[in-house]
Amino acid sequence: MNTNILVVYFTWSNTSKKIAKKIQTLLQADIFQIQTEKTYPDTYLACVVDAGKEKMKKERPVLRDYLQNIERYEKIVLVFPNWWGSLPMPVFTFLEHLDFSGKTILPVCMNGGSGFSKTMKQIQETCPTAKVLEGIEIKKKAVDSEKTQKRLEKWLGIE
Ligand SMILES: Cc1cc2nc3c(=O)[nH]c(=O)nc-3n(C[C@H](O)[C@H](O)[C@H](O)COP(=O)(O)O)c2cc1C
Repeated sequence: MNTNILVVYFTWSNTSKKIAKKIQTLLQADIFQIQTEKTYPDTYLACVVDAGKEKMKKERPVLRDYLQNIERYEKIVLVFPNWWGSLPMPVFTFLEHLDFSGKTILPVCMNGGSGFSKTMKQIQETCPTAKVLEGIEIKKKAVDSEKTQKRLEKWLGIE
């Protein structure tokens, strides 16, 4: 058990969840899901519109649960989808709520084709006292591929 590593994820269509679970298994780490009190629309287009409004208004959706024991962890693997070229707003809520001083963050950006966009910069700016390592970006269509599994293992230093 890697009790000092936490995998945190936010997901809407469950690809980030899949990758988070793979990483949890590979590292034998703890896992935490970022969940909002509000429910996002079920259909893609409606969700895209809703998330776009949230981003424009710089909203910080209220979370159902805030991580209580971050001091226990040294490394945080943060798995999230690229939403409008940005971190989803609930990920900002999560990052702004906690103190990441001295922690190492390993970002995993799920996306439909745009890669990281602004997300790496946003994480570093939101958590200036954390060490943010080079992230990995994974295309939604590659979520189940053997190549993705290999890329993940290499990125995590497991080979
Ligand atoms: C609201 C919303 C906005 C999105 N914006 C982008 C985008 O700007 N660039 C991109 O490459 N993919 C975008 N996507 C696609 C997701 O990043 C991609 O499908 C990802 O794998 C979803 O992760 P999830 O299954 O964990 O929700 C968007 C998806 C949603 C729902």
